[in-house]
Amino acid sequence: METKQEIVKQKQYIEKVREINKEKQLKYYILTMGCQLNENDSEKICGMLEEMGYISTEDYTQADLVIFNTCCVRENAEDKLFGKLGELKKVKEKRGTIIAIGGCMMQEKHITDKIQESYPYTDIIFGTHTMHKLPEDIYKILENRKKLQDVIDIDGEIYEGLPIKRTSEIKASVTIMYGCNNFCSYCIVPYVRGRERSRHPKDILEEVEQLAKEGYKEITLLGQNVNSYLRAEKWKEEGKEYKGINSFATLLKEINKIDGIERIRFVSPHPKDFTDDVIDAIASCEKICKLVHLPLQSGSTQVLKTMNRKYTKEQYLELVEKMKAKIPNLTLSTDIIVGFAGETEEDFEDTLDVVRKVCFEQVYMFIYSRRVGTPGDKMENQIPEEIKHKRFDRLKQLVESQIAENNQKYVGTIQKVLVEGPSKNNPKLLTGRTDSNKVVIFEGEQELINKIIDLKIVSEHMWYLKGERK
Ligand code: 5AD
Ligand code: SF4
Repeated sequence: METKQEIVKQKQYIEKVREINKEKQLKYYILTMGCQLNENDSEKICGMLEEMGYISTEDYTQADLVIFNTCCVRENAEDKLFGKLGELKKVKEKRGTIIAIGGCMMQEKHITDKIQESYPYTDIIFGTHTMHKLPEDIYKILENRKKLQDVIDIDGEIYEGLPIKRTSEIKASVTIMYGCNNFCSYCIVPYVRGRERSRHPKDILEEVEQLAKEGYKEITLLGQNVNSYLRAEKWKEEGKEYKGINSFATLLKEINKIDGIERIRFVSPHPKDFTDDVIDAIASCEKICKLVHLPLQSGSTQVLKTMNRKYTKEQYLELVEKMKAKIPNLTLSTDIIVGFAGETEEDFEDTLDVVRKVCFEQVYMFIYSRRVGTPGDKMENQIPEEIKHKRFDRLKQLVESQIAENNQKYVGTIQKVLVEGPSKNNPKLLTGRTDSNKVVIFEGEQELINKIIDLKIVSEHMWYLKGERK
């Protein structure tokens, strides 16, 4: 109830700001870093801003309000933020631009301290648990121009009913849970996003039904750890289930019934929680894409142990075999970290071995980045940067050769492609994606946009396939 009242209050602030901004045609610029969860948060931020009367611009020098939605999973985002903040100083002097920084990085004290000290012209700092209060924060700045910091270190509430401005009219993201309880030793997320909490299934189903009505064809369910959806929710144990939904698998099955939605994806599951009921749901629900993102992180049992991942190399491979046996046309993608503390040459070879065996459709590769406050950062046997980079290059080479080989398998096949729109590089052609998320470029009429059609794959080009209408 309290969260509902809070949203009512924020909507009143939206109206107040709208009144102040009336007829001023003010512009906002937003920069989003990091994962799809952050992108989904930014869609909500944009939703609030547009209701407050701000208009989007791609040019920050023209903006009256600049928002950075930050990520802190790896170090390079920090350099990017501080670089951008430096550039903004002049713009602010000229236009009086309001600068607001939010998101994961703002939950780290050493970062907010640095901003206060080196970039004192920042107006608003907000955290992951206070994003919904942006209308109030902006109102206060407009009223008295006193800078404010609104970050709290709690597990956070779930706020329903924020306005949203989606970036696509075809594909939509739906966050189903927030936070993470896993504390993988390299990862900062549990510290900045708090403990796991799941949205109520009713709210999720209503959102997806609304998206279906609006014509969306594909939805991606988001969470740091989607397959522990509802695990921590007490009301479920009391038997107050909604439409029989008490787990990730039952949620998937219910969403599969929603008319209009044709594709369902989800990121990211954790291998340790990949229960048989989820495998069965993927196999039996025709709308769930058969591409599963299954983060490996490392192929070495020893490194997995120090990473606190709670599975071994063999358990990962067994899970993959079980999934391949039960899910026809399964494809897999993964995340891998190279150069975690203590990773020996032999450990790295184990990672290459798993990659060779599984033959992933796509591998997102990361060089280990030490994060202040995580156990990984305190480990003594850190790997020199040079070795990390060399290993990264070796992994990249293997992955690219596998992708090239894998692409060959598509040539001559018929693929179901969701058509997304004109190709960026050649607007005369259309682009779309297969069930396995491969980009396909082809010649076709505009009427095909937002439809799933059959295409014959005629050639492959590393990062995309060429298709022809049958
Ligand atoms: N260094 C490098 N990569 C990381 N990831 C998470 N934390 C770190 C880190 N400290 C990667 C993991 C995760 C993905 C979202 O980011 O592979 O799955
Ligand atoms: Fe980070 Fe591990 Fe949680 Fe993923 S599961 S968000 S890697 S702690």
